[in-house]
Amino acid sequence: MDHELTTPRLNLRPVRASDLAALHAHWTLPDVRRFLFDGAALSLAEVADVVSASERDFAAAGHGLWIVRERDRAALAGTAGLRPLDDLGLEVVYSLAPEVWGRGYATEAARAVVEHALGDLGLPEVLAEVDAGNTASAAVLERLGMTPFATVPGELGPLIRYRRTR
Ligand SMILES: CC(C)(COP(=O)(O)OP(=O)(O)OC[C@H]1O[C@@H](n2cnc3c(N)ncnc32)[C@H](O)[C@@H]1OP(=O)(O)O)[C@@H](O)C(=O)NCCC(=O)NCCS
Repeated sequence: MDHELTTPRLNLRPVRASDLAALHAHWTLPDVRRFLFDGAALSLAEVADVVSASERDFAAAGHGLWIVRERDRAALAGTAGLRPLDDLGLEVVYSLAPEVWGRGYATEAARAVVEHALGDLGLPEVLAEVDAGNTASAAVLERLGMTPFATVPGELGPLIRYRRTR
């Protein structure tokens, strides 16, 4: 199974080892890492660990981290995926290259991931967690029909937790 997801404008395919350099460059951009890893710049080895974990998760459970690309372009436009949120369930995560912000791609990619989780994978709910100051990301979640249900402390300040049930 290739685990690819397709939307009107985007293709999502699982990350693989050959994406390592592009993924590292993307996730270490200051505007991208600011809210994604509490501002930390991941090392190449840490990114490699994320890719390996994703490969294991796809093989075992049909989810992980997807590379997001525009359907007619080879370059990485961003990422979207599912990862555990504490012991509560899976959270949807996403990031876009700053040059493609403002086109609706994050919402389109994250919607495909949430629908995959609630549909194909049969999960009862999908979660998300957003820094209170990350208004662009909160807007993505609201467009996806996710609802805030808790606020918890985080490295950069309060984090708002969202959920969407089947
Ligand atoms: C969070 C992040 C992905 C949001 O990106 P974004 O471009 O604002 O979100 P979308 O791709 O859904 O685009 C929505 C915008 O595109 C606009 N848009 C333009 N054309 C559109 C179209 N054809 N369809 C839908 N929306 C469109 C929308 O009106 C909206 O604009 P607005 O922000 O002025 O209201 C981006 O800021 C990012 O990568 N941040 C760093 C990583 C991060 O914080 N990730 C989340 C961690 S919780």
